[in-house]
Parts: sequence; C-alpha cells; structure tokens
Amino acid sequence: MRGAELSKQIYPPAPDRLPIARREPRLRTAYSSYPPEWDTPLVKLERESEQHGCTVYAKLELVNPTGVHKDRESSAVIADMKKKGFRALACASSGNAAISVSAFAYMNGFESHVFVGSEIPQEKLTLVKMFHPVLHTVEGDYLDAVEALKKFIAGRKVYNANAGFCEAKLVGNSYIGMEVAREAKPSYVICPTNNGTHFVGVGLGVKKVGVSVCMVAAIAPDTEIAHSIKGYYHLEEPKISAMIDQTGGSFVKLTDDELKRATVSLAQQGIVAEPASAASVAALSHLRLQEQDVVCCTITGSGLKYPALTASMLKKWTAFSSREVLPKNNS
Ligand SMILES: Cc1ncc(COP(=O)(O)O)c(C=O)c1O
Repeated sequence: MRGAELSKQIYPPAPDRLPIARREPRLRTAYSSYPPEWDTPLVKLERESEQHGCTVYAKLELVNPTGVHKDRESSAVIADMKKKGFRALACASSGNAAISVSAFAYMNGFESHVFVGSEIPQEKLTLVKMFHPVLHTVEGDYLDAVEALKKFIAGRKVYNANAGFCEAKLVGNSYIGMEVAREAKPSYVICPTNNGTHFVGVGLGVKKVGVSVCMVAAIAPDTEIAHSIKGYYHLEEPKISAMIDQTGGSFVKLTDDELKRATVSLAQQGIVAEPASAASVAALSHLRLQEQDVVCCTITGSGLKYPALTASMLKKWTAFSSREVLPKNNS
C-alpha cells in the first residue's frame, strides 16, 4: 500500500476541519516585531470544566519564544526603548523575566543587565546565561537585587525594565487580556501573581475590550515549589488592589498541595506548566462558580524549562493510569 493511502486509513480526515493550507494563519506578527499580538492558543480544560460545572479555558502563554508570558512584556519594553533612544536595559529577576528580557535584547543587539539574588538555583542560572546578559549577582534576595539595580542605573543611560517601574510591561500583558476578552468573553480571569504586572496588564486589556470580568489574583507567598510567584512582592501595588476593587475580583492564596495537583492535572491534559503558572487552575476551587460562567486561566510559564522540578511534581502520579483519579492526599 502506498504511503498516502496508508496514512488515510490510519488518520481519517476530520470532517469539521479545513485543510491546513486553507486555514487563516494564527500568528499575526513575528516575535521580533511590535505589537505582541501573538494570539496564543485558548484551549478548553475538559476536566476542570466538568469538575466545576462551567466552562474553563487555559490561555497558553507558555508557547511564547522563551516559554513565558513575559515575552509579551519584553516585546513592549524593546519598542519603548527604541522610542526613547535606549540601547541597554536592566532587570532584577530570579528566572523567567531575566531570560525573556535578555532574549529580546539579544534579538535587537541591545545590552542587558540582569540582577539576581545570590541564592538563585543552578538550574535557573544556566537558563539566565543563555542569551549572554551582563550578570550582577547580589548578596540577598530579589528585593536586594532590585535595590542594586536602582543604584546601578542612576546616572547611566540604562532602561529600567523592572516590574513596578515599567509601564511598557503592563502594555505587553494587555494584549493577553484583549485576546481572551475578544475570544471568550470571560466572567472570570485568573492570573498567577507575584509583582502583579501580569495581573494588572491583563485586567487593563480585558477592560479595554469592554468585557465585564472578575479579576482573580492567584498567589502563593510561602510556596516551596512555585518559585516564580514565591514572596508575593506586589511591586505593582496599589494598581493590584485597584484592579480587584474595580472588577469585584479577589485574591486566592494557594498551598503547595493545591499547586501540585493543578500541575499534574494540566500535564495529564498535555499542558506542561511550571507549578507557579498552574496557580490559576488551582484557584478554581476557591471560587463560587455557576454553570453560565466562563473562566480563563492564564498558564504563564513552561515546565520544560525546569526539568528537575517538573519531574519531581509528576513522579508521584506515574502509577495512576486513569485520567480521572488523583490521590486525595499527595503531600
Ligand atoms: C511563570 C510566571 N507566572 C507568573 C508570574 C507572576 O507575574 P507578576 O510578577 O507579573 O505578577 C511570574 C513572574 O515571574 C512567572 O514567571
């Protein structure tokens, strides 16, 4: 049997789909250009929809160039730098933001200065070094790194690309909000939250489209596994609280057990997310959802970047063959 005939038998054509060549391309702009209208996938989470008796979507920001929503921010940062005549940027970060800004600086031939706390894990440092930023290791934690950054840029022509000081980052996130608002008209949008740049920016985007939504900030200040949201540094306050007040939204504080369960549930549906970005899904159980609700959970970062962490999240469930069954006590 010839290859084409054989493949027709194995893969019968799906009647409700157009041939690939006739579909509209989903990607509207190249990643290196502005604005970041990337139209990332919005997929229905069948399991969570059934469990919560409403429609639950995941907005897959982990498909961006460096596997994180922060690439939308970085695209806007570069556009703002060009407008204002900067050729160097600085950002304090323990991981995803540093990787993203240095990747976008690399694309544009700009210099990036990354400030990290001295306790950054080796797995993350390897990724941070990938795009060759100038690395400033600071004794202490994230907030010490932010202080060191502020001292460094004083008197230098270096763009402050840090959360809490950079309007462009909010603008980058607003594109995510506009996309979910146009595509799903959600009643709730849930965002994994640390400094709140993602949360506030997404909320601004949803509001710009004119959709009325409850904005929910999923936080985990004391987590040991969701490093990207550990601490809840809220550098965007008071904008975070204002967004919650204006939209009738809420904060949801999560445990590591809830984050693990959400990470595993997503992985079992083909979405390999880092535990921090599964916070939006973990928060669902804390809301009083009704049948008519449409909820969009932003899935902000890829678990593929942190293989040791991801493997440790998934290993306890490898023995379970049924997709429906998760152990009740998984600590
Ligand atoms: C994967 C991921 N999700 C969510 C967040 C939280 O974003 P924000 O600090 O804007 O609240 C971060 C921040 O580093 C992140 O890396």
